[in-house]
Amino acid sequence: MAENKSFDANYVEEAGGKRSGGMGFLEQFQLRYAKVDPASYLRRPDETGVQYWGRRLGTLKPVELLHAEYGNTELRQYLNWWQLVFIGIGAIIGTGIFVLSGQAAAQNAGPAVTVSFIVAAFASCFAAMSYSELASMIPVSGSAYTYAYATMGEFVAWILGWDLILEYMVGAATVGVGWSGYFKKFFGLFGIVFADSWTEPTVIWDENPARIYYEEGHAFNVPGFVVIMLITIVLCVGIRQSSWVNSVIVIIKLIVVVLFIFAMCGFVDRSNYDPYVPPNTSGDWHYFGAPGIFAAASTVFFAYIGFDSVTTAAMEAKNPKRDLPIGIIGSLVVTTVLYIAFCTVMTGAAPYTELNTATPVITAIEAVEARTGRSWLWLKIITIIGALAGLSSVILIMLLGQTRVFYSMAKDGLFPQVFAKVHPRFKTPYIATITVGSITALLSAVLPVDLLGNMTSVGTLLAFFIVHAGVIVLRFTRPDVERWFKIPGGKYFFIVFPILGMVICVLLIAVAEVTTIWRLFVWMGVGWVIYFAYGVRHAKLHRDPIGRFAEVHAHADTSKEEVYPVQDYDYQHDRS
Ligand code: ALA
Repeated sequence: MAENKSFDANYVEEAGGKRSGGMGFLEQFQLRYAKVDPASYLRRPDETGVQYWGRRLGTLKPVELLHAEYGNTELRQYLNWWQLVFIGIGAIIGTGIFVLSGQAAAQNAGPAVTVSFIVAAFASCFAAMSYSELASMIPVSGSAYTYAYATMGEFVAWILGWDLILEYMVGAATVGVGWSGYFKKFFGLFGIVFADSWTEPTVIWDENPARIYYEEGHAFNVPGFVVIMLITIVLCVGIRQSSWVNSVIVIIKLIVVVLFIFAMCGFVDRSNYDPYVPPNTSGDWHYFGAPGIFAAASTVFFAYIGFDSVTTAAMEAKNPKRDLPIGIIGSLVVTTVLYIAFCTVMTGAAPYTELNTATPVITAIEAVEARTGRSWLWLKIITIIGALAGLSSVILIMLLGQTRVFYSMAKDGLFPQVFAKVHPRFKTPYIATITVGSITALLSAVLPVDLLGNMTSVGTLLAFFIVHAGVIVLRFTRPDVERWFKIPGGKYFFIVFPILGMVICVLLIAVAEVTTIWRLFVWMGVGWVIYFAYGVRHAKLHRDPIGRFAEVHAHADTSKEEVYPVQDYDYQHDRS
């Protein structure tokens, strides 16, 4: 279709002039990133097949094209800053605080699990800064996938897009399994006991030695399946409705978390803080002592996952450049403060040794009941409702994030076009939503929580790592693009933050179970096969680059030009 097109004369002249004048390394690098001529994606007559295909893997998506995509989207641009903060909180507060906090206290850190939460907050805060800078500069909905396409090329972008399935889709399935646990506990308070056959996933996972097997009597996790399908319907109906449901749920869970903190803070028994850092007696560094705090930090890192999902809603934000950083950083600050207070009272209310349960928050309330002789049924009911609400919003936002990543990948041709189909009335990518929702519901009905959860954490850390690298690359290659939020530190010193962030990501991946890391490799291997079988051959920037640029710019909403000036291209090419 688009072969033999003439190149943008101005661009080539300018680039050629610079080339002949001799350029420094950085200038050459910058030129590559400034390359926005669509015809430059075509195969050059002097290029061998190997050179051409090698170049394709490193194809960059220009920032200007991404800006124009924002102006061209069919999605409804509805979200304001506080709705984005709520999306962040909706995705963050969930299994991490309601389930994993107690387990990490009991197994790894004791009452010092609060310190682990602070350590994990630091790791997340570096990532939040990198995400904020990129989001304020490239406000498009694919999140880390899009940032990788603009900074490290198509192949890395695909890897990231594939990796984000672990964070969003597998993450939502993990939380779906946890949802069933609290659902059972809620009815258990009234003496109603549900059979495991329809409330537990079909199979069980053992880490050592790694094996997966069918558990006699476990058929299908019906509550997890149903809640995910209900949320899928809300997501199909519209971003306005989804944001509305999310905001209501977030308000409920914030009230419950604050209520729990205030109700319990008068019943803290200081002897539960002694020892604050229990000594390591087993010889294995994971269990207690100062290193145990870091082992717990790697577990409770899961509690912060989700602030990045704010960026997946970029296309649906009214003023993404300003509001995405507010959404990311605002939601992280609010949740960090709540987490620290929450853990402090929980570990003060009950001895840490008792918190290794599926519902540690309820265990803490029951410990106070046993100590004081009072009955606190209302608090337990409200807390479980808050936990169920909390987990529901995590599922909602994770599914939202996954569908928007698939939408972006389909727009680029790396995924089948059907995933980019937007419903004419609801203005949502409904086919992507139904597909993602159904697969996630099935995963949650069949697979166990630990198998799913570990994959989510390593997948997210990998995404964070690439985003940190992306910030550094774009600072040097596209210093000209306006950023509403910039990592502090000036032209060079800023680099300390993303580098520290990368180091922390590597350390946290390194302390994951070996089998989890192997599963990550296998997952990536499957992704490579799909990329080479499908993605690389259908990528629109190669099949029809001029058409792709023209398609975006032709429909770009010129009223947004002030915010994202759309560069004028000469499309007078022969497109026959
Ligand atoms: N941060 C989310 C949770 O804790 C994923 O459930």
